[in-house]
Amino acid sequence: MSTDWTPEQMPSQAGRQVVVTGANSGVGFEATRAFAAAGAHVVLAVRSTERGQEAKRAVADEYAGASLTVAELDLADLDSVRAFAEWYRTEFDAIHVLCNNAGVMAIPRSETADDFETQFGVNHLGHVALTAGLLDTLRRTNGQTRVVTQSSGVHERGRIDFEDLQSEADYDKWAAYAQSKLANVLFAYELDRRLRAANASVASVACHPGYADTNLQRRGPEQAGSRLRLFGMQVANAVFAQSAERGAWPMLYAATHPDVDGGEYVGPGGLLNMRGHPTEQSSSDRSYDRDVARPLWDVSEDLTGVQFDLPTPTATH
Ligand SMILES: NC(=O)c1ccc[n+]([C@@H]2O[C@H](COP(=O)([O-])OP(=O)(O)OC[C@H]3O[C@@H](n4cnc5c(N)ncnc54)[C@H](OP(=O)(O)O)[C@@H]3O)[C@@H](O)[C@H]2O)c1
Repeated sequence: MSTDWTPEQMPSQAGRQVVVTGANSGVGFEATRAFAAAGAHVVLAVRSTERGQEAKRAVADEYAGASLTVAELDLADLDSVRAFAEWYRTEFDAIHVLCNNAGVMAIPRSETADDFETQFGVNHLGHVALTAGLLDTLRRTNGQTRVVTQSSGVHERGRIDFEDLQSEADYDKWAAYAQSKLANVLFAYELDRRLRAANASVASVACHPGYADTNLQRRGPEQAGSRLRLFGMQVANAVFAQSAERGAWPMLYAATHPDVDGGEYVGPGGLLNMRGHPTEQSSSDRSYDRDVARPLWDVSEDLTGVQFDLPTPTATH
């Protein structure tokens, strides 16, 4: 448990290989900056390489020695996820930290290239497929190796609706977001149990940024064409949100702090867990329910067509 941790306390990341999805904006961008400052080589996995190059330039301008590679990854398209993983395996033989960070929130209903509801498809299924594609490389990596999956406090309101996973019968933008963010935590914990069952030296950790001022809150109102909601979001961000830089702290802590174990959940420890220094926390009761995690795992493998080469955990894992 830490109450005063900042990224300055991060151990040197020199010689370590980090992948951050959604690295061009918000929390992912700030995490990229901090990893680069600590000496890691960071792969900015982004859906727009143009925006990725802009982010790379901004970090390189600040840290002359920054080691950064931009690569295309559209989590709304499984072909793109497969291509990214294949490219990564060809280019690199290690991955110490995989940050499953990119996301969309409360947008009008749309579908990914593979006909998944976009929030479930991008936030959860895309990251499941990505993690599966990089698993062998993660397992081959020497040294502390972690998969960190970014959730949200909103996961506490989430339910996995196995009857209507893609919200076809009924779409509520917040319920779909909450489902996707609960799926993030369930996936992170189930992955950790399976990694333990395989005696793998990779840990899987979940985290959330609290409430951080980023582009996330803009997308829903922008896509719905609602100026009023956009204005409301801007006011709320200005009044209540912490900076995107601080929003990145839990992910950085989860990725690097020596005391963090697989299967933990890290978030800001201050007011309402919306701001402050990172601490290990409890997630919702539902997120620990293995009877939900297991079928979610199975259906996620089926939908994405990936197969994790990991054993089913027993009650002791
Ligand atoms: N900010 C908060 O208060 C808050 C609270 C709880 C949880 N979170 C979580 O934190 C994570 C990061 O969000 P943020 O706040 O930093 O928002 P952000 O500034 O909007 O960043 C989101 C990132 O995800 C990328 N992305 C969106 N769709 C993608 C796709 N199909 N393929 C690949 N990348 C895609 C975006 O790319 P583009 O720039 O190209 O759109 C952007 O880089 C999300 O998982 C979010 O759910 C944030």
